Amino acid sequence: MAEYDKDKQAKEYYLDTPVNNYGFFLKGAHSLDWGMKNRLSRIFRPDTGKTVMLAIDHGYFQGPTTGLERPDVNIVPLMPYADAIMLTRGILRTTVPPTLTKAVVMRCSGGPSILKELSDEELAVDIEDAIRMNVAAITLQIFVGGEYETRSIHNMTRLVDMGLRYGIPTMAVTAVGKDMVRDAKYFRLACRMAAELGAQIVKTYYVPEDFDTITASCPVPIVMAGGKKLPELEALTMSWKAINEGASGVDMGRNIFQSDFPLAMMKAVNKVVHEHLDPQQAFDYFNSIKAEG
Ligand code: R5P
Repeated sequence: MAEYDKDKQAKEYYLDTPVNNYGFFLKGAHSLDWGMKNRLSRIFRPDTGKTVMLAIDHGYFQGPTTGLERPDVNIVPLMPYADAIMLTRGILRTTVPPTLTKAVVMRCSGGPSILKELSDEELAVDIEDAIRMNVAAITLQIFVGGEYETRSIHNMTRLVDMGLRYGIPTMAVTAVGKDMVRDAKYFRLACRMAAELGAQIVKTYYVPEDFDTITASCPVPIVMAGGKKLPELEALTMSWKAINEGASGVDMGRNIFQSDFPLAMMKAVNKVVHEHLDPQQAFDYFNSIKAEG
């Protein structure tokens, strides 16, 4: 009781210092719970508000994709340079050392291969297993306008509900069918639907016209998907434009691991996203790393 009995002067209550309410840096996340915010802060760097995510989940529907034949050899060495890695539980458990402390964004949908209708997906990971793997986020595709549109959206809302139960954010990826138009009008629809129905992060493709209207009309952070392999300067330019037009980061796969110099590309993308290097500066940096071998 000695402590309890001490008079007020012996203690410091900082009576003139208002309590810090810790505003949250990420768009649309201020009302989320502590665990959810903490996980988002492992994906998005609180000092820049941005993320560089490395996507290597392609094998879940297309098998050993070029560049991903041996992720233990080619991909694991890149992971320390990413803020987050997006992958399947199979590759996480078989190939990624558990000493890696980077945020894990776990692919939780699957079913059809490239031989079939891709929108015919189901949820493919139990939330308990996601918790066991200590993931920072769970993710799946939505196929707005696709053959199984409703099912894919329902998969997402179920994943969001499970994630909310345990404080794990859900990232919705807006997949686009082969014959569909990839324009701002389509992505505004798909991204807004994902956010309205509960996704805390949306991953979508860059479009040259009006990308800023997609980010503006989506109330949660948008992460730019990489897409098919481009020459490095073009991929850096696309990343730079996306960030300048409101994206909160990039989630790139082939434009990194299919580069002849993946580590240099990984580092150059970081410079664009976190340090605002313009595309030419980042490309010069890429070439300087490349020259160092
Ligand atoms: C969507 O289909 C998957 O998440 C992909 O495997 C991944 O996002 C593709 O990344 P990228 O287009 O940058 O190779």
